[in-house]
Amino acid sequence: MTGEELRVVYLDNNSTTPVDPVVFQAMRPYFTEICGNPSNQHHSAGSCAAHAVEKSRSQVAAAIGAHAASIVFTSGATESNNLAILGICRAKGTLPGHIVTSAIEHKAVIEPCRFLEKLGWKVTFLRPDSHGAVDWRSVEAAIRPETVLVSIMAANNEVGTIQPLERIGEACDRRGVMFHCDAAQALGRMPVDVDKWNVDLLSLSAHKAYGPKGIGALFVREKRKTDILVPLCYGGGQESGIRPGTLPVPNIVGFGTACELAVSNLAGDVPRLWNLQRLLVEKLRGCCSDIVLHGHPTDSLPGLLSVGFPGVNGDEFLFSLRDVAISQGAACSAGSPEPSHVLTALGVGYDLARSSFRFGIGRFTTEADIDQVGAEVGRVLAILR
Ligand SMILES: Cc1ncc(COP(=O)(O)O)c(C=O)c1O
Repeated sequence: MTGEELRVVYLDNNSTTPVDPVVFQAMRPYFTEICGNPSNQHHSAGSCAAHAVEKSRSQVAAAIGAHAASIVFTSGATESNNLAILGICRAKGTLPGHIVTSAIEHKAVIEPCRFLEKLGWKVTFLRPDSHGAVDWRSVEAAIRPETVLVSIMAANNEVGTIQPLERIGEACDRRGVMFHCDAAQALGRMPVDVDKWNVDLLSLSAHKAYGPKGIGALFVREKRKTDILVPLCYGGGQESGIRPGTLPVPNIVGFGTACELAVSNLAGDVPRLWNLQRLLVEKLRGCCSDIVLHGHPTDSLPGLLSVGFPGVNGDEFLFSLRDVAISQGAACSAGSPEPSHVLTALGVGYDLARSSFRFGIGRFTTEADIDQVGAEVGRVLAILR
């Protein structure tokens, strides 16, 4: 990385976060000195690694109010979502059933559902309200006798809206349907409690919470996981056979440490993130009085600001913002004119959606960073508008 790149203010923390130095230090010895395979516990290198894996499993479980035995390590929330959705449906045999989800889920939920549709499954994609909230009554109303699974995310990755998880969990319980929750964005930004939400399956990702990339987990409530989930891969039987493959010990140790930090820092991080977010809104309003804030005014993740700048060309804006790293909702891949499926589902028009950006404040963002972002956005808007 060059010196010039180092001056960039990183406000893309909902896309991924930097690894916390404490996490990095915890991981270090597991790359070199403690190199054993946790499956080979007949020597100390393996048994030390296995011990570290089990400690991390307990740390991850503690962060979501679960028992260690219910944690299956995966490569991240994409895999966890696929394992939950495809694994549950494959466990139902060949019978095509029905899934209830929302139109604003991450693609890692929407795409496995689309795949199941090709196999004859029916999927209800519920529309949220204009703030991005999914009505728990619409979830309950959508459940049919053949419904196998409800999959609703904890908090949206593009606009930050937190869903009424307790009410959705109660509805699923009343109707005897399994509830999967993609909580990739929630860890470290809001309390996560699998019992309070009454979830059966919950997806986590370390790199959204200051842990390393390439590691995540699926919480599975049942003790005998193979009864409700068919694995996506077969191999050496690790992770109760649900997710075989040699365990990436350094990443797992980092994930466990990140979970511990997520819990211990939550009470301090949340008000800090809200304060910085308020400051950022002030700065952005100062340079553009007609900004449009997307998402929910109160039930929202701290630090995630989705903002529309009416009349601003999105590509030019992003290209001109040299010293600020933000992103455009999502799904606006190079050359694609399609706006974010999330903003579209909230009823945001095509032009405003294309002029909307996500600012993701994180644990290491400072007030000086927000000042710099305000100044840089002001400079770019003065040129573009
Ligand atoms: C809500 C949500 N689900 C799933 C994912 C995918 O997570 P991972 O990068 O760990 O596969 C993300 C990250 O982009 C996300 O924000």
